[in-house]
Amino acid sequence: MKFGIIAFLLAIIGSIVYSCQSEDKIEFMRYYSAGQALYKTHCQNCHGQNGEGLAALIPPLTDTEYLKQHRKQLACYLKNGLKLPILVNGKAYNGEMPPANLAPVEIAQVLTYVQNSFGNKANVHNIDQVNAELGKCE
Ligand code: HEC
Repeated sequence: MKFGIIAFLLAIIGSIVYSCQSEDKIEFMRYYSAGQALYKTHCQNCHGQNGEGLAALIPPLTDTEYLKQHRKQLACYLKNGLKLPILVNGKAYNGEMPPANLAPVEIAQVLTYVQNSFGNKANVHNIDQVNAELGKCE
């Protein structure tokens, strides 16, 4: 009898954990697929279909370390543009990225896509994080 109750409780806990995981996954896929479409229209011209960049002019989006280190600034880079000397994949760039004309939720989506494509792997970059980061742009 006791064993039956424990097994029952374990089954409930298991199914709660499982459904939370799949909700995270659904959230991730929603951001990712919307981000993929946004990337094609707003970023691909410059950064390339595979995030490869363009020679010495446009940095690639394949430097996972760079993206990790600047995760909290990326939303501001997109909102306000970027015009700083930067080091990506060990190469120096000093170009100018114009501000992207995107809503905060679109910034979250495209950043989720970029940080999980081209060899990168990260968590979802959700709207709450982006809103908090946009509140702290320099
Ligand atoms: C007009 C060309 C252009 C467009 C469009 C553009 N970028 Fe950029 N991007 C650049 C340039 C140039 C830099 C480097 C700026 C510098 O040197 O300060 C850059 C830098 C970056 C960086 C930081 C460095 C790196 O390579 O990781 C990220 C991240 C980024 N862009 C993402 C995006 C995303 C996402 C979009 C679409 C919403 C986008 N860019 C659209 C030209 C562009």
